[in-house]
Amino acid sequence: MSAPGSTALAELGEVKPIAVDNVEGLTALAKDMRPDLTVIGPELPLVLGLADSLRNLGLDVFGPSSEAAKIEGSKVFAKDFMIRHNLPTANYAVFYDPAEAKNYIKDASYPIVLKADGLSAGKGVFVCGNLERAKAALAELSKMESASRIIVEEYLAGEELSFFVITDGRTLLPLPSAQDHKPIFDNDRGPNTGGMGAYAPAPLCTPKLEKIIMETIMRPAVEGLAAEGTPFRGLLYAGLIVSLSGPKLLEFNARFGDPETQALMPLFKGDLAKTLLAAANGTLHEIDLQWHDRYSVCVVMSSKGYPGPYATGEAITGLDEANAMPDAIVFEAGVSKVPRKVVTGGTESWVETPLTNGGRVLGVTGLGDTIGQAIDTAYKAVSAIKFEGAHYRTDIGAKAVNQGPLYDPD
Ligand code: AMP
Ligand code: GLY
Repeated sequence: MSAPGSTALAELGEVKPIAVDNVEGLTALAKDMRPDLTVIGPELPLVLGLADSLRNLGLDVFGPSSEAAKIEGSKVFAKDFMIRHNLPTANYAVFYDPAEAKNYIKDASYPIVLKADGLSAGKGVFVCGNLERAKAALAELSKMESASRIIVEEYLAGEELSFFVITDGRTLLPLPSAQDHKPIFDNDRGPNTGGMGAYAPAPLCTPKLEKIIMETIMRPAVEGLAAEGTPFRGLLYAGLIVSLSGPKLLEFNARFGDPETQALMPLFKGDLAKTLLAAANGTLHEIDLQWHDRYSVCVVMSSKGYPGPYATGEAITGLDEANAMPDAIVFEAGVSKVPRKVVTGGTESWVETPLTNGGRVLGVTGLGDTIGQAIDTAYKAVSAIKFEGAHYRTDIGAKAVNQGPLYDPD
C-alpha cells in the first residue's frame, strides 16, 4: 500500500490519497493497518516528524526522526553540523537579514553560491557568476518563505557525485556511486532542475575514493548524529563535489535521490524490503548488499516548459514498446491514466491512456555491460516514447564514457 500514491504505484497495490504532509492522517492509517515496515520516501514528512509519530506506535520505520532529518531540512543546521564534525565542505556565512547579505556580496569573490536555509523543492540554490546575478538571486530569496536565513557559500569547482548509505545508526552500507545531471540542457546549461538523468556506478568514484568518502564523510556523519542524540535510521545521501583536492560536501539529504535511484536500483540484487527492515529495526549488520556488475543510465523525459511552468495532459505513446526492450525499464513519475473508449471491428472497449501529469514525466533506464551500452539502451527506449513537447537531455552518461579517477591518492 502507498500514500499518496500515483497511477504507477496503483499497479503494485492499493493507494490511499492521503497528502504527503498530513502526518496525522498517515499516522491514523498506520495505526489501523499496523504495517510490518513503513518506508518514508520524501523529505517533507520526515522533517514534519512522521517517522517519530509511527515509531511512537511501536512500528518499524525506514526514515530518520525529524531531528535527524534536519540534516536536509535546514542548510544552516547541516553546515554547522559539518563544521562541528570536521567534515570537508565549502566556506560559508549565514545571514538573517538580506540587507547584510547584500553588503557582504559586494566584496565577495565570484562565482558565489546563495542558498535558502529551508526546504525549497530544489529552487533555493543560486550559483552566481557576478554581483549582478547575486543581487537578483538575493531578491528572489527575499521572497521565499524558506529563506528566513540565507547562506552565502564559496563556489566549489569539480565533478558532482551522489553517494548514498543505508544505515541503522550504527552499521553503514554504501550503495554504488551515481552522478546526477541537474541543469535542464545538454552540457550542463540552463537552470537547475530536480535532476534530468543519472548514471551508476560513476567511474570517477574509485574504490580508494569510496573509502575516503566513507571514512571522512559518511561514518563521521552517522556517528556525529548518534553522538548528538539524534541517530539516523534510513538513507543518508551526500551531495559531493570531487576535485583534485578531494571530495567536499555540498549538502546532505535524508532520503533516496531522484533520479539516481532509478539508475541504481536495477543494479540491486537482494531483497530490498528485508534490507530496509533491517535498517529500521537495527539489525543492518546482518545484511550483505549485492549488486550486478553492470552500468545503468536513467534519462528523464520532461514536459515542455519545465522547470518553469509546464503543460500537462499530453497523451503518451510507446511506453509498452519501450518497456519490452531488453534491459530497459520505464519509471512513470508525472503520469496519470484516463480511460478512453476505443472501437475495434465494431466492438467497444475501454483502454487506459497515459497522460503527462508533472514536470518530470518519465525516468527511462537502460542497463549494459559498459556505460556506452547502457546509454544506447536508454536512448533507444526514449526514442520509442512520444508526447507533445517532450524534452530530454541527449548527453546523459556521456561524461562517464572516458572518465577516469579524478582524485585517487596513494
Ligand atoms: P544543493 O541543493 O545544495 O545540492 O545545491 C543544488 C546544486 O547547486 C548542486 O547540485 C550543485 O550543482 C550546485 N551547488 C550548490 N552548492 C554549490 C557550491 N558550493 N559550489 C558549486 N556548486 C554548488
Ligand atoms: N538528485 C537530486 C535529489 O534527489 O535531490
